Amino acid sequence: MYKVKDIKLSENGRNQLEWAEEHMAVLMGIRRRFEKELPLKGIKISAVLHVTKETGALALTLKAGGAEVKLAGSNPLSTQDDVAAFLASEGIEVFAWRGETLQDYYDSMVQILKDGADIVMDDGADLHTLVHEKFEDLHVIGGTEETTTGVNRLKVMEEEGVLKYPVIAVNNAFTKYLFDNRIGTGQSTIDGILRATNLLLAGKTIVVAGYGWVGRGIASRMRGMGAKVIVTEVDPVRALEAVMDGFEVMPMAKASPLGDVFVTATGNKGVIREEHMKNMKDGAILANSGHFDVEVDVSALRKMSSKVVKIRPGLEKYIMTDGKKIYLLAEGRLVNLGTAEGHPSEVMDMSFANQALAVEYLVRNKGKVERKVLNVPVDIDRFVASMKLKTMNVEIDEMTLEQREYVKQWKYGT
Ligand code: NAD
Ligand code: ADE
Repeated sequence: MYKVKDIKLSENGRNQLEWAEEHMAVLMGIRRRFEKELPLKGIKISAVLHVTKETGALALTLKAGGAEVKLAGSNPLSTQDDVAAFLASEGIEVFAWRGETLQDYYDSMVQILKDGADIVMDDGADLHTLVHEKFEDLHVIGGTEETTTGVNRLKVMEEEGVLKYPVIAVNNAFTKYLFDNRIGTGQSTIDGILRATNLLLAGKTIVVAGYGWVGRGIASRMRGMGAKVIVTEVDPVRALEAVMDGFEVMPMAKASPLGDVFVTATGNKGVIREEHMKNMKDGAILANSGHFDVEVDVSALRKMSSKVVKIRPGLEKYIMTDGKKIYLLAEGRLVNLGTAEGHPSEVMDMSFANQALAVEYLVRNKGKVERKVLNVPVDIDRFVASMKLKTMNVEIDEMTLEQREYVKQWKYGT
């Protein structure tokens, strides 16, 4: 079973997927091993992920390992319809199309859970939440979680004692957040803003809300494009890091009249509110790269406006009653996936290698893994880093025997 926009798009989807796979050498290495060993034979995997060409490469890798894979989209705007069609034609049960409603989004999740799931793979924790609220009888071996917001939600579930199965926080692997959240989002957010607006970033004032892994990636890439970057934060340590990295730091109330473009990356709600939008320049542009569409208060923006004009896909003009204009990208949803294609394949290679290996770990250790939110085993993280370097033809040093002994002792100083 599947529900996609148009199954006839599948040939184009195949081409897209092949392009991604050529740039995902670590994941493809795992696929070749999975084909031989079939470690996921008979395992039902229900996954909510952005249905992109990179996710397609992961889904086919899990299938190659013997799994039965069902897939729903993680966001109404992020599905690449040709990829969804190709995956459906390859026997993946896909329920995703670009432009789906919130109701479609939840219905699709029900579709991928209703016949059971051994592994629950998620990006944002809505699927994990649905299992806990409405599919309590499922005998889930374990789950994985792709993003910071999802991991934060699952940790609350663990603290409240309601978590029903172990979840591996793929997001927290070094080979995930250092590259995906920071470098991937840094580049793809700029890609999204440029595809939606095609404006010049050089010389503009960009306000980045949040100096976590995503925010610092965006801030540094924006600086690289010649923009003047202001950072807003609520955490004093991260604010200090931003200051020492050379950025101006101030509260949003002070930054709001200064910014030409605002990008939120906090995982928090109401970061840009009415009081800020009232103070913005005529023509200010708002974008979000955090997981949910809660960071810019879009309903306040709507209330403040007398008219909304769709300029082109992903770019809307809100005209205030006093005539001032504010532009909103991708309806306040993840701009890098809403108006661009998400992270480059080379970055997703590492994120999804961790996903595939985390699933294999949960299956091989069925019943032995603690019912907690767990880090990706360090061996997996280091394997992904080593394989990535190898596929990039980068060699590194090895410690000599003398060095290995030296770092293990405490008696020798100078
Ligand atoms: P993080 O926890 O490292 O950073 C978030 C930062 O935001 C923290 O430093 C926090 O102090 C700050 N913050 C919280 N509330 C704030 C507020 N009101 N004003 C200013 N700063 C505030 O998280 P991260 O890994 O950087 O992820 C951020 C968001 O991006 C999450 O929602 C995550 O799921 C999402 N994400 C998106 C993509 C993408 O493709 N767009 C990729 C990875 C992560
Ligand atoms: N998240 C960010 N970029 C992505 C991509 N290209 N595919 C799937 N999920 C993503």
